[in-house]
Amino acid sequence: MAAEGIVLDTDGLVLKPGTKLQVAQRVTADGQSHFHRAEIMSTRVGKSGRPEYYVHFIDYNKRLDEWVDVDRMDLSTVELKAEAGDKSGSAAAAAAAAAALTKKTPVTKKRRREREPRSRGRPPKVTTPVESDEISRPSSVLSSASDAVSTTTSVSSLPAALSKTQEIEKLRRGGSMTQRLEEVARVKNIDCIEMGAHVIRTWYFSPYPQEICGTTGDSTIFLCEFCLSYFGARSGLRRHRQKCTVHHPPGAEIYRSGAHSFWELDGHRQKAYCRNLCLLSKLFLDHKTLFYDVDPFLFYVLTENDTKGCHLIGYFSKEKESADGYNVACILTLPQHQRKGYGKYLIDFSYELTKREGKVGSPEKPLSDLGLLSYRSYWSEKLVALFMEQMQANEGNGETERRFAVSIDQLSKMTGFTCEDILHTLQAMDALRYKRGQHVIVLGEKHLADFEKNKRKTNRLKIDPKALQWTPPVFTTAQLRFL
Ligand code: ACO
Ligand code: ZN
Repeated sequence: MAAEGIVLDTDGLVLKPGTKLQVAQRVTADGQSHFHRAEIMSTRVGKSGRPEYYVHFIDYNKRLDEWVDVDRMDLSTVELKAEAGDKSGSAAAAAAAAAALTKKTPVTKKRRREREPRSRGRPPKVTTPVESDEISRPSSVLSSASDAVSTTTSVSSLPAALSKTQEIEKLRRGGSMTQRLEEVARVKNIDCIEMGAHVIRTWYFSPYPQEICGTTGDSTIFLCEFCLSYFGARSGLRRHRQKCTVHHPPGAEIYRSGAHSFWELDGHRQKAYCRNLCLLSKLFLDHKTLFYDVDPFLFYVLTENDTKGCHLIGYFSKEKESADGYNVACILTLPQHQRKGYGKYLIDFSYELTKREGKVGSPEKPLSDLGLLSYRSYWSEKLVALFMEQMQANEGNGETERRFAVSIDQLSKMTGFTCEDILHTLQAMDALRYKRGQHVIVLGEKHLADFEKNKRKTNRLKIDPKALQWTPPVFTTAQLRFL
């Protein structure tokens, strides 16, 4: 990509890949912009003929990487990349990175997940609201949780108690996922995609062929919204649309409710579409690299339907056989449809499938920052709604006490969530208490207020289990041989 380092006028200052300096981040909605330390990843000559620099804001998610010109840089803060031979600072890091890139990582088979111990002990109780004077609150919820809930499930892997804000900040700043070094070095290759009625700014690199995305990183590519074929020019897409007769994803429509459908696709059988879907989703997902290896996965594609066809909203993929008990490999809502409740709708659907399989499941780790936020929010909302339902049912039965007994294991069976995810969620919600020698799940005023607030939200779509026409697919050993 473009020239290696561009000499800047008077001082002969060379800004080349590896140089670090303060760069103004994009102006936010409130009109504020501030400087943050960034590293130059690549350079090019922009359309105006002026040099442009692709910068990564250090400690921030790669989603924020962008092309900037020199006007946004504070040149008095330039830290030049140390030259070869100098093993200190960034040169040493670069050397280490280069060494890591050339080292081959042995491929190991995934170990089968150890089964979680089944619940045998006294179930924790759910009560509401908090009766603070009655409750002897342990100094650390974590340590007290481990002795009393231990009969239900292992809690030794609960995370150190970071506050929710700290955790989100850590994820937001620390990059979304485990990033492969070679991927970190990748400069975004496409600026925008045009798809149906939408023009969408991309977030990350995706390995579309260079012939269609060029080498400058500022191109727009054009996608057929129904078959996801891609073109470097609008005229190419127009010609394709005259011939393309597809109006919905291939595969079986296994769910329809109102204007929404879910389609089940087999990566082996509907290979072309699944590969196109992976290429598209990589633009917004930062940790998946095996785009062409779609055979081991099933894809569940969500569409919104109108007279023109079934328009892609999002999808999740799922391993045909997951040794780790994952029920979702990758999940995506296209950016133009985000924050409208579709993420939770997709997650809800994934658990509906899992329950139909008679299993429990968890999303593949690590989660992205947005993935974690969505799952946390989904799990806690579902659990609180379930507790409230149970208590309302009890009240209907004439019981005066707003409490009921349930084990984590029972909760797991009712929801399809793993015991571990339930415990993590309850802990993050600060809803676990130790009372009179046993553990209780306590809903405080805040939980109840959130529950009421969520009920009023207009973007809540619910999966209707009756609309799911599906039996879990079974694969023979021969069919799974590619795994
Ligand atoms: N900022 C703050 N909170 C957010 C944001 C955000 N940008 N996005 C989602 N959330 C939280 C909110 O709590 C929200 O609930 P609320 O609206 O009640 O407050 C909740 O997540 C879910 O919101 P939805 O509208 O249901 O989810 P959305 O349709 O936006 O999809 C998703 C969420 C799929 C994670 C989307 O952000 C996405 O596609 N991101 C890019 C790809 C990605 O990171 N996928 C997850 C990778 S991990 C894995 O694949 C297993
Ligand atoms: Zn098409």
